[in-house]
Amino acid sequence: MATISRNSNTTKASLNALPLELLVHLIATYLPTKDLGALRLANKYLEKVLFDTFAKEFFTKKQFMLSTASLQTLVSISRHSAFNKTLRHVIIGLESFDATDVASLSGTMSCAQYDAFQKGYADQFAVSSSGRDQALLTEAFRNLQNLDTVGIRDYEASGRVRDDDRWRSYGAPSISREIGLNLRTGSNKFASQAFLLLMQALADADHPVSSIETILRTQSSGLKDNAFFLGSPNPKMDVVLGGLRQLLLTLNPSGGHHDSSPDADLHSTCLESFLLRCTSLEHLRMNFVKQLHYSSSWVLKRLCKTPDPLPAIRRLDLGMLVIMPDVLINAISKFSATLRHVSLWKVELQWDDAAHWKDSDDRYDPWPRGLKDLATTTNLTNLSLGCLSQRDKIGHHCLVNFSDGKIAQDYSGDKRVWMPLLLDQLVVERPEPSSDLSEIDEDQDEE
Ligand SMILES: *[C@@H]1O[C@H](CO)[C@@H](O)[C@H](O)[C@H]1NC(C)=O
Ligand SMILES: *[C@@H]1O[C@H](CO)[C@@H](O)[C@H](O)[C@H]1NC(C)=O
Ligand SMILES: *[C@@H]1O[C@H](CO)[C@@H](O)[C@H](O)[C@H]1NC(C)=O
Ligand SMILES: *[C@@H]1O[C@H](CO)[C@@H](O)[C@H](O)[C@H]1NC(C)=O
Repeated sequence: MATISRNSNTTKASLNALPLELLVHLIATYLPTKDLGALRLANKYLEKVLFDTFAKEFFTKKQFMLSTASLQTLVSISRHSAFNKTLRHVIIGLESFDATDVASLSGTMSCAQYDAFQKGYADQFAVSSSGRDQALLTEAFRNLQNLDTVGIRDYEASGRVRDDDRWRSYGAPSISREIGLNLRTGSNKFASQAFLLLMQALADADHPVSSIETILRTQSSGLKDNAFFLGSPNPKMDVVLGGLRQLLLTLNPSGGHHDSSPDADLHSTCLESFLLRCTSLEHLRMNFVKQLHYSSSWVLKRLCKTPDPLPAIRRLDLGMLVIMPDVLINAISKFSATLRHVSLWKVELQWDDAAHWKDSDDRYDPWPRGLKDLATTTNLTNLSLGCLSQRDKIGHHCLVNFSDGKIAQDYSGDKRVWMPLLLDQLVVERPEPSSDLSEIDEDQDEE
């Protein structure tokens, strides 16, 4: 890299005179395909000098889809003498031919587009039915010596072809061009299958990673409980689970009768057996699909019944759930011995008639009360809160925000300092006691 500055006194204007970061930026901005091919366009000198920087910039984190071409590219990268060291983060995108509603669009597609779609559809079906996806992923994981994070992401396909292709799955943009539309993301089932596939490939490759990140944003998508099925004992899988330090999940564990009532029998779940084996896990995130009330309580209650789960947990993020205050506080307190950081995002506390949730004015104020409880039962150093709310007796949804007008806040350091500040800043919006509630509702809608 030092060569660049030594040569920069050259009188001719040349690419070589540019600072390295600028060159990388130019390549990133102006070359249409920011991948392997881009290198061929650079001259030999640049290629040599830029290689490291280029590899770091474009080959540390890559997203692939479940198609033969995309997975084979991953394998090629994993066999490349430089890229097999730089690639640390592999993401599986959930672009699915199955989910793409081609029937309604076939009228507007050309023959070539329709053929390309059918071919891709057949390929995706074959690569998964034959187990070839697992073989390719396993080979790649085995080769990628510095692989540290794997993830699953769904991509919101609805007409958002962005300039920056970098975080679209490898191969997906060219499929979009061929078929004239973006592939949609697969169902819950597809996401759960992809999760099982990733886990199995990591185990088969004998390649533990420190982080698994499942980030699903499509409406109502999330991993089903059977995504965590472990089957018969497998020492290789235990090594993978035992090595995990961070696990970010989007969950949709509903199904069967469990979701029909808050008091349904608590059957054991695949998720809990899975988590019990993650003995080094330090950071767990569980985001839920919010509409499905009871399944999130059910997951947390089960976790509380387990003796000594997650002995190393330091950070717990819970998001998108509707829950009774006691269930939330109990779940968090369960980890109090090691927990230092709690993050609560879009959490709605349900109405609870229990006397201990009322304050001296007989008011139901579960957030201030619950947070105070948490502060006394745990040794938290960090608390992140955002988009909180609570239901009152008549079902009114009361937002909880902060006196500075923000809807989210981070507190850190000594809780004796931030706890009083937090309680002082917390503002619970509640309807004025009035005989005409409907009028207040209207006022709030106008805001
Ligand atoms: C990385 O690639 C080089 C060249 O193909 C190969 O010799 C080496 O074994 C690979 N490393 C791993 C861990 O596969
Ligand atoms: C919090 O830390 C104190 C001092 O280290 C310790 O005595 C106490 O047991 C801890 N509390 C919990 C809930 O772990
Ligand atoms: C709460 O936040 C919302 C949205 O930012 C804002 O419109 C409202 O005025 C806030 N309420 C209070 C009581 O601060
Ligand atoms: C947690 O709190 C510490 C201070 O105690 C701070 O240095 C750190 O940045 C915080 N971590 C996060 C993730 O906010």
